[in-house]
Amino acid sequence: MLAVIGGSGIYDIDGLEEAQWQSVDTPWGAPSDQILTGRLHGVAMAFLPRHGRGHVHSPTDVPYRANIDALKRLGATHVLSISACGSFRDEMAPGHFVMVDQYIDRTVSRESSFFGTGCVAHVSMAHPICMGLSRAAGDAARQAGVTVHEGGTYLVMEGPQFSTLAESRMYREVWGCDVIGMTNMPEAKLAREAELHYATIAMVTDYDSWHPDHGDVDVASIVAVLQGNAAHARDTVANLARIFGGAGCPTGCETALDFAIMTAPGKRD
Ligand code: ADE
Repeated sequence: MLAVIGGSGIYDIDGLEEAQWQSVDTPWGAPSDQILTGRLHGVAMAFLPRHGRGHVHSPTDVPYRANIDALKRLGATHVLSISACGSFRDEMAPGHFVMVDQYIDRTVSRESSFFGTGCVAHVSMAHPICMGLSRAAGDAARQAGVTVHEGGTYLVMEGPQFSTLAESRMYREVWGCDVIGMTNMPEAKLAREAELHYATIAMVTDYDSWHPDHGDVDVASIVAVLQGNAAHARDTVANLARIFGGAGCPTGCETALDFAIMTAPGKRD
């Protein structure tokens, strides 16, 4: 099953057959919203609006563990995250999609693991993205007429406030980041712990605050770009379902836990 987590501006997907909003319970509480299930081009799909319909969860308060667990319980094997982001590169312009392949996690206030006391595990995050799914999603976006950039480092900030000018310059010039957003961590870490194939489309809405030719980022300018991006995202999802075919995985996502659990079998909760 192919799951899509939609970010700001994306609260449903088009053209699903047998479409149904379902409530799913998890040991981690309720997910952000009901989950829309159905079929697209013969592929079983699940769609979850990350911030909930009506945009009610802030980036800090998104129930990330419940979201990933709920998608896994429904039978998801692949998760495509779609998120708005700011850009640190001239060439990654508003309206473009960036196929992120690395993260720097600066979040400070989120539950970021399914493991802990009772069962300790350390999964590898060296290669956080499923490159099979990412390449397929990039192809699907290009077929939708979008300018796509392959590869990029996504700085995940806590928010909800935007960065200061000094932070924006540091992320760009010193840390070499390409885009910035507030939501992909701990989502990507949890997807890896759940042995799901996870990839991200970062949809550029603005130049954050570093760019001398553009003003400071604000919600009004983001929303103005979001509508066009959302239409492209919907077309991308439809194309991805058409070409998906279980996209091969060179990353080993589905065996992430094979050598990750430290707690002795007899001691695990
Ligand atoms: N989401 C969209 N634009 C952003 C920005 N500039 N910073 C953080 N999150 C964002």
